[in-house]
Amino acid sequence: MLSILVLHGPNLNLLGKREPGVYGSATLDDIDRALKQDAERLQIKLTPFQSNHEGALIDAIHSALGQHQGILINPGAYTHTSVAIRDAIAAVAIPTVEVHLSNVYRREPFRHQSYIAPVAIGQISGFGTESYRLGLQALVHHLRQQNSA
Ligand code: DQA
Repeated sequence: MLSILVLHGPNLNLLGKREPGVYGSATLDDIDRALKQDAERLQIKLTPFQSNHEGALIDAIHSALGQHQGILINPGAYTHTSVAIRDAIAAVAIPTVEVHLSNVYRREPFRHQSYIAPVAIGQISGFGTESYRLGLQALVHHLRQQNSA
């Protein structure tokens, strides 16, 4: 069975309370619950993990080796700053999809650069919880196509 690691970066534990005008009213638990339902339907295993610490996210990426076939990540603000998370994804070479709740390209210029996008298979931005659900669907589709090739 395919296994996907879902990584939520800094401040995403505050979803629901955090700038609801930008990020919506869904909590992180709501998002994980929706993804778990999708995972059942897609018949995959899903392991969600949130951290506010760059190193903990990097450790989780490293420990995905041999455990998970894909990574779905919302790196939060680390998207725009973290060469280290980008290098970790490149190092493990596990297919990764980057997602954002908000449309980062409609926001401040500093959010327009992603260090993660060049090592991701794709990016989905601007659809709230649906960004995660679409990202999961696209990742699973990619992995299944890869396996049948
Ligand atoms: C975010 C966008 C980032 O710019 C921001 O720092 C976040 C959340 C999003 O999901 O829209 O923390 O990744």
